[in-house]
Amino acid sequence: MSKISVLFVCLGNICRSPTAHGVFQAMVNAQGLSDQILVDSAGTGDWHLGRAPDRRAQKHALARGYDLSDLRARLATAEDFYQFDYILAMDRDNFNNLKAIQPHNATCQLSLFLEFCRNPLYSEHQEVPDPYYGGDSGFNWVLDLVEDASAGLLEQIKAKL
Ligand code: 4NP
Repeated sequence: MSKISVLFVCLGNICRSPTAHGVFQAMVNAQGLSDQILVDSAGTGDWHLGRAPDRRAQKHALARGYDLSDLRARLATAEDFYQFDYILAMDRDNFNNLKAIQPHNATCQLSLFLEFCRNPLYSEHQEVPDPYYGGDSGFNWVLDLVEDASAGLLEQIKAKL
């Protein structure tokens, strides 16, 4: 059976990418695809390594039914380009940081995550904004964008299984 692996990447790996990890994993589980799709997340910055997601990210995710409490921050590495089929960056800075460590011979697809959005309302958004220094609405906006892009990503991956 083919297995497809997805790595979500942001800066700190405590707000946006763990949110994407939890949301996408929940969708994969709900469709009975956890044996066929592997999900992980990482950061390009090392300030929060080993920590659980930001309490605000956890609170807002849980309010929509996503439990992020078991996730722990880790660094994205060059090795990830050999381990994952998709590496999905939350914003252009993350994308550029990943490009800088991407091995030349890796076949992994590196993209901005919001390329998978389907809702026309979100079509002008190419980046998931960093909610770390903002208020509650930023975390809910992250969830809105991540839910839509996750649904689009899962449809595309299902067509390849
Ligand atoms: P994230 O948010 O990249 O969505 O996890 C951030 C978390 C922490 C920091 C920046 C962004 N920081 O500067 O510590």
